[in-house]
Amino acid sequence: MKIITGNPGTGKHTIAKLISRKLNLEIIDINKVAINEGVFKKNNGTLDVDVDKLKKIINKKDSENSVLVGHLAPYVISPKNVEMAVVLRKNPYKLQSTYKKRKYTNKKSLENTGSEILGIVYYDTIREFGREKTFQIDTSNKAISFTAKKVESIFKGNKVKEDNVDWLQLVFKKRDMRKFFPY
Ligand SMILES: Nc1ncnc2c1ncn2[C@@H]1O[C@H](COP(=O)(O)OP(=O)(O)O)[C@@H](O)[C@H]1O
Ligand SMILES: [Mg+2]
Repeated sequence: MKIITGNPGTGKHTIAKLISRKLNLEIIDINKVAINEGVFKKNNGTLDVDVDKLKKIINKKDSENSVLVGHLAPYVISPKNVEMAVVLRKNPYKLQSTYKKRKYTNKKSLENTGSEILGIVYYDTIREFGREKTFQIDTSNKAISFTAKKVESIFKGNKVKEDNVDWLQLVFKKRDMRKFFPY
């Protein structure tokens, strides 16, 4: 299985659609699978994805010609089924305006910008699938076609050079730590 992950708003679905057409891959959208299979559990009034149940379902899918898409990817597939994983990254200031447009609550927005600044999805992807299989791509200020080409090259097995990402330093320099981490 090929993987596209990253926080919400980083460009996963945009890139997955282009790549799936180009390389003739089937998109497995983690959120859609969770909804279709009804694998949720209640967590003080909100619904959370039941990751253990989802993992069983996703590991049974045909991994040969598929791309798995979603921010939960590091937690819902066994490493043995993973060929390579692309983690899309995006400037937290840009994400903030994307979340505003998507009408995320303040809490949901801060959770996701905080996760992006700390690089949690990237860290977890490396921890689960290994350094060799993981590629980080910064989509901020990049054309969609440029990012799609890079991901295509990675999925073809090329050892593409990763982007450097240090949002923590950026936010620190702009003295916005309190804004992104108010509690
Ligand atoms: N280089 C890029 N790669 C992917 N998406 C990009 C890029 N630059 C801008 N975007 C835009 O980012 C937005 C969020 O993309 P989307 O695919 O919905 O993200 P996700 O599926 O991760 O939530 C879209 O409006 C998309 O057009
Ligand atoms: Mg999406």
